Amino acid sequence: MKKDKKASNSRLPHASSNPFIYGKVVREEEFCPRPQELKALKNSILSGQNMALLGERRIGKTSLLKEAVRNTKRHTELYVDLMQIKSIEDLIKRFFHAIHQIDTGFFDKTLKFFSVFKPVVTFDPASGKTGFSLSPGQKIAPESLSAIFKLLKEIHQKKPLVVILDEFQDILHLDCSSECLAILRSEIQFLEKIPFWYSGSVRESIHGIFLSPDSPFYKSAQMIEIGPLPEEAFMKFLQAKFEVGGRTVSSSLLKEMIVASSSVPGDVQEYCSALWEVSDFNSTLEQSHREAALECIFSREIKEYESYLLNLSSMQYRALYALATVGGIAIQSQVFLQKAEISLPAGCQKAVDRLIELRIVYRHNKEYKFINPFFRQWLLHRGY
Ligand SMILES: Nc1ncnc2c1ncn2[C@@H]1O[C@H](COP(=O)(O)OP(=O)(O)O)[C@@H](O)[C@H]1O
Ligand SMILES: [Mg+2]
Repeated sequence: MKKDKKASNSRLPHASSNPFIYGKVVREEEFCPRPQELKALKNSILSGQNMALLGERRIGKTSLLKEAVRNTKRHTELYVDLMQIKSIEDLIKRFFHAIHQIDTGFFDKTLKFFSVFKPVVTFDPASGKTGFSLSPGQKIAPESLSAIFKLLKEIHQKKPLVVILDEFQDILHLDCSSECLAILRSEIQFLEKIPFWYSGSVRESIHGIFLSPDSPFYKSAQMIEIGPLPEEAFMKFLQAKFEVGGRTVSSSLLKEMIVASSSVPGDVQEYCSALWEVSDFNSTLEQSHREAALECIFSREIKEYESYLLNLSSMQYRALYALATVGGIAIQSQVFLQKAEISLPAGCQKAVDRLIELRIVYRHNKEYKFINPFFRQWLLHRGY
């Protein structure tokens, strides 16, 4: 039996390329199914219920939303990425870009609706694509945003849409964020036939937008938390990839890697990708490969780790190291305080709060975790 497997593997191309994908959206067969969440999103399309997805970075929100629209077949995604948005002009450009992506057939209509923004049509000879820009220095009043929603309504009549507003919390970066949120909310509520899906990775901000009674978006969407992928299915999914490349990996080794990556799919795939790089066709993967894979990630990321450390006081560093070694469930416990060599719980809390501010750790379900799990592994590996 084993021989047969080897024989069939040997027919595969030897240097088949690394099958692990991380740092970008995964779709179709690269998407390990999330049946529960896909079902909730499908229901949202049927009922018109707006949804807000909350989950850490690299957990798989964008991939899930895009895959859910793709599964419906009949609907088209209008995907607006709000990551690092700087101004209302920026917001308009991103909507324009998103509309432009779905079908160039709407280009003239889009320009008509966007005429309030006095757009300049651009042409990129390299890509052969037409684009849109605003005159430099042009200031746009938030009320003009309603033109966009009128256009969405028209498009939706011809081509049913699902609107995805990704990294929605970044809208809070705008100077006029309260005004913008109020306008967006009032426009969106008139488009009750179009499902709006918001995603966010900054917990406090998303809670503030959807759960705070003062916010215009209060209770305007059903919130779902996106957690790790179903473990068994994800392990099979990863194992199949190793197998195609002639590598055998035990469930226990894989499980160890998933735990070390805090079960964040993007990090797990990054780890697996490194494991692939340090191993050969027809090999059985062992602890030594796993260690080599970590070394490989460390050497790529060392500058990032060093820049984290530069910003820390001695007490903050000790708290960080205690988080790496003891874990972040009970930071006020004697064990933790002793490890961190901090006498008062309040001092320890302050140090950990600073680590959150610096976006080195985050808090989830009363546990403090590393945003980059490989940084934690590096601290453990370094041993001080
Ligand atoms: N369903 C999935 N199946 C397999 N890998 C996934 C899945 N969802 C996320 N990933 C992994 O996580 C990475 C980041 O996914 P992404 O959707 O961009 O996350 P987010 O939007 O939450 O930051 C992907 O490149 C992939 O490595
Ligand atoms: Mg995303």
